[in-house]
Amino acid sequence: MRSAPWLVHMRLPFSIRQIVTVVGAAVAVLACGLAAHALWGTAGLAAPIALSVLAVLLFVLESRDHQHRLFLRTLQEQRSMYTQLEALQHVIRATEPIAPLPAMRSWAASPDLLRELVARILAEKPTQVVEASSGVSTLVIAYCLKRLGRGKVRSLEHDPIYAARTRQLITEHGLGAFAEVIDAPLVEQRADGAMLRWYDCSKAGLAGPIDLLVVDGPPDTTGPQARYPALPLLKHLLAPGSLVVLDDGGRDDERFIAKRWADLVPGAELRYLELEAGAWMLRLPAGR
Ligand SMILES: C[S@@+](CC[C@H](N)C(=O)[O-])C[C@H]1O[C@@H](n2cnc3c(N)ncnc32)[C@H](O)[C@@H]1O
Repeated sequence: MRSAPWLVHMRLPFSIRQIVTVVGAAVAVLACGLAAHALWGTAGLAAPIALSVLAVLLFVLESRDHQHRLFLRTLQEQRSMYTQLEALQHVIRATEPIAPLPAMRSWAASPDLLRELVARILAEKPTQVVEASSGVSTLVIAYCLKRLGRGKVRSLEHDPIYAARTRQLITEHGLGAFAEVIDAPLVEQRADGAMLRWYDCSKAGLAGPIDLLVVDGPPDTTGPQARYPALPLLKHLLAPGSLVVLDDGGRDDERFIAKRWADLVPGAELRYLELEAGAWMLRLPAGR
């Protein structure tokens, strides 16, 4: 419940709904009191007075609860912000970008996921990275590959506007040798005996082995289980021991997708990472 700006400014712990409720209750009690007084005289006022005292008591208790909940939420947001700033510091230090990185969080990957990706890439030195959805994650991955001196990230993008935007960023950051955005509209395609809507890779010339697959799209606004097709459609290109990362793992849809993926690849190891948006990591068996 939002508070009126002037109430926020005065730091009063009351919401508009609470004020409307208490004023409404006061008017109702007053009306009852007047009616009772008219019918039974002074004795008739006892019940409305008792009711008024009870209402004030409940209002004070509810206000305290409201304030406490606000305090806890602010505290949690502050902690989360600090964690993201720490992660951001790691990402910047590891990638040393030559221009400002675009916004993280919200639609884009959060710094804590990017820090995980940086750590995995620098440790595992993938040669081919495929990414479902482009943006700041493409730049961070490409910077890591540049630091390693080899490899390429191919980012599938269904939206031509975001494809152009990411291409522009790749140029600005001088990462053309390490990153490529592939225009890939979402189309129905067959995999594992079912029709699935996913990025059209038919003109992308994707070939295995893929060492790292990062799945951060398509957005959930394109349909339920939108990211599930990644594995059925690309698993034949994944290298033994490769890693599949699924962002937004805290959402019900992604939790379900991760479990379905684990069932698709016998022997794969599934792990959940407690990050701002949550993430799933599926490690394919080394000897497939
Ligand atoms: C969840 S975003 C992730 C993008 C990318 N992995 C990153 O970290 O920046 C997935 C897709 O949403 C779309 N998108 C990105 N930013 C958006 C925005 N601000 N509003 C609407 N769609 C957006 C793009 O098509 C993108 O491929």
